[in-house]
Amino acid sequence: MPGKTIVVGISGASGAVYARRLLQLLAADKRVAHVPVVVSSGGMRLLKEELNIAPKKLAQLPAALVGKAAAKKFDYLHNADIGASLASGSYPTDGMVILPCSMATLGAIASGVTDNLMRRAADVHLKEGRMLVLCWRDSPLNTIHLENMLRVARAGAVNFPISPGYYFGAQKLDELVTQFCCRLLARLGLPQEKQFQWKGRK
Ligand SMILES: Cc1cc2nc3c(=O)[nH]c(=O)nc-3n(C[C@H](O)[C@H](O)[C@H](O)COP(=O)(O)O)c2cc1C
Repeated sequence: MPGKTIVVGISGASGAVYARRLLQLLAADKRVAHVPVVVSSGGMRLLKEELNIAPKKLAQLPAALVGKAAAKKFDYLHNADIGASLASGSYPTDGMVILPCSMATLGAIASGVTDNLMRRAADVHLKEGRMLVLCWRDSPLNTIHLENMLRVARAGAVNFPISPGYYFGAQKLDELVTQFCCRLLARLGLPQEKQFQWKGRK
């Protein structure tokens, strides 16, 4: 059975460490054969600000995030290329996640605005009835954000806020980030060995 294709979008919301961890876990996951990656211009700025990735290195995405060897199954697609594979529903995928997802990208998806590849690919996932997971981070939320979240949920998307659990005793930010990404991957049908499972307490 061929491996899965999981699309990853990185937009300009805070949380670049989560995007990097997600790509690392996808790179290591043998069930995943192909990971098309789209980064918005806001996402580029974010990677520079939060991960200190120099503009020169941004040209080598996603290797700049996960290293050359791990990046083999990744395909970097330009966000301006609205004629790329992901723009068509005829291109098969097993789901898409936007992590982090800005309020701008959420709003565009909620309104059916498909003016770049990431937004078009998200729209395609909804129209084809495929899994679309939007990991936003903002706090507090205004009513526009809330209405957009409801609209995308009604269209079939999963609102998956970057809100890690604190019940498994994490001591480091790194553990929170990993556990969040493990939960996310489980939602995409890729449960991870590293994922903490609450067994209840007597
Ligand atoms: C370091 C940094 C952090 C940001 N964090 C957020 C955020 O958490 N949420 C958000 O909606 N926008 C955030 N923004 C603003 C977005 O990047 C901006 O609205 C951009 O136009 C989003 O476009 P995109 O969705 O195409 O990336 C941030 C910008 C920068 C530079």
